[in-house]
Amino acid sequence: MKKLEIGSGNKPKEGYLHFDIRKDINVDVVGDAKNLPFENNSFEEVFSRFFLEHLDRKDALKVLSEIFRVLKNNGKLELIVPNLNYFCRLFIDETGQKKQWALNKIYGFENYFEDHHFFGYDFEILSNFLNEIGFANIEKLESEEQYLHVICYKN
Ligand SMILES: C[S@@+](CC[C@H](N)C(=O)[O-])C[C@H]1O[C@@H](n2cnc3c(N)ncnc32)[C@H](O)[C@@H]1O
Repeated sequence: MKKLEIGSGNKPKEGYLHFDIRKDINVDVVGDAKNLPFENNSFEEVFSRFFLEHLDRKDALKVLSEIFRVLKNNGKLELIVPNLNYFCRLFIDETGQKKQWALNKIYGFENYFEDHHFFGYDFEILSNFLNEIGFANIEKLESEEQYLHVICYKN
């Protein structure tokens, strides 16, 4: 398969090879994304949704460099993460359930060990990370305001 999903969890995207750190869920390959068990230039696309925020800054950069390594030239990375700006505003402006939702999206739901958030992103911060690794043509796609949906390329 030429397309890889990292951190697919319980909502794997159809058409991708599914990779996750947890052994107790149904994925194709179990492992830590900091050391992807794939050859250089293996995949045309990598997709990851609600995963990168589960890593601290150092680990996120390590994972992005691993993704860069396993992507073919001109390969595409597609990322979806919570929009930290949105949830910070929600936390400040709201009370009750909406405030609690904001906390969950900033710090994680904490349902299992890997379910903590160690960092957060807006488009500027995420672009800086992607640029640092060498990704190009970084573009923010239209999406619901609470999420950042970004694509970029290895070229
Ligand atoms: C919030 S879930 C997202 C699941 C799914 N992508 C979705 O859209 O709902 C985050 C996933 O990342 C996985 N994960 C966390 N740290 C990881 C790591 N270092 N390497 C691989 N997967 C990891 C977790 O096990 C979990 O399944």
